[in-house]
Amino acid sequence: MLEQTVQIVSNARATDLYFRLVVRAPQIAPLVQPGQFAHVRILPLKDALLRRPFSIYQVPGDTFSILYKAVGKGTEMLSRMRPGEELSVIGPLGHGFTVPSLGGETPLLVAGGYGMAALYLLAQRSPQKGTVFVGGRRRVDILCEQEFRALGWEVRVTTEDGSHGEKGLVTQPLLSELRRRAMGHKLFACGPTPMLKAVSKIAEDFNVPAELSMDEHLCCGVGVCLTCVIAVKNGEGWEYQRTCTEGPVFDARQIVWEEAQ
Ligand SMILES: Cc1cc2nc3c(=O)[nH]c(=O)nc-3n(C[C@H](O)[C@H](O)[C@H](O)COP(=O)(O)OP(=O)(O)OC[C@H]3O[C@@H](n4cnc5c(N)ncnc54)[C@H](O)[C@@H]3O)c2cc1C
Ligand code: FES
Repeated sequence: MLEQTVQIVSNARATDLYFRLVVRAPQIAPLVQPGQFAHVRILPLKDALLRRPFSIYQVPGDTFSILYKAVGKGTEMLSRMRPGEELSVIGPLGHGFTVPSLGGETPLLVAGGYGMAALYLLAQRSPQKGTVFVGGRRRVDILCEQEFRALGWEVRVTTEDGSHGEKGLVTQPLLSELRRRAMGHKLFACGPTPMLKAVSKIAEDFNVPAELSMDEHLCCGVGVCLTCVIAVKNGEGWEYQRTCTEGPVFDARQIVWEEAQ
């Protein structure tokens, strides 16, 4: 984990809803593992002390990129920043996904929202290809479809309004796939909490392993403030663990959902 002042290489709209930011970060980029995140201090912001977390999307050369949605004052300010301007980044942070091994379980990735960006590096680094299930409300919510296909993965798209791919929830084609054959699969998911909860239930019902990225609201991002804890099983009982440090990726069987909400 390193703190670095990085320079923006490019920062432009990637889709109707998302921006793609590329920064030069020669010390951080080579260390990144799939599922890890960067904690970004947006320097022109008044309350710049508060960092914003973003999943690392791609790591070409000595740069890394994120895909982000402008949802509030931090991300709106970020979307106005230009190449050459600087950000302060701590990264790579968190415990990421286990990269599947060749000949091992077939990976099934399940993604909603920016989860599609968070899972891209896993697909790129995995020697074992599988299927990516991407879902959103509308066509504009779907990210990285072509990028996953270009890696040779099968992509199943669902939208709730039917404007792209199959109509419905992302878990529907996942269920069909597992009903055909469950054995030999492993699930990896990143997206909204209700989606993660549904994936966890499906994994339990079909007795398949699953890793979930639990993206709670973070503050310090480095394990000090304890604002990001979730309940995780521990022998007969449970304990709180930090999503920024022990997570964001957890084994689905470990999560205590009643406490995680
Ligand atoms: C581990 C992790 C990885 C993330 N990766 C990405 C990513 O790759 N791309 C991306 O677009 N976003 C990602 N996020 C969410 C991103 O951090 C927030 O959208 C951002 O911090 C909002 O900052 P803001 O100042 O613009 O919004 P604020 O003004 O702080 O808040 C605006 C709105 O965003 C909501 N919000 C704030 N923080 C979060 C959060 N952590 N999760 C969900 N909603 C939030 C608030 O409730 C509020 O409704 C990630 C979050 C986590 C914890
Ligand atoms: S965000 Fe501070 S401990 Fe996790």
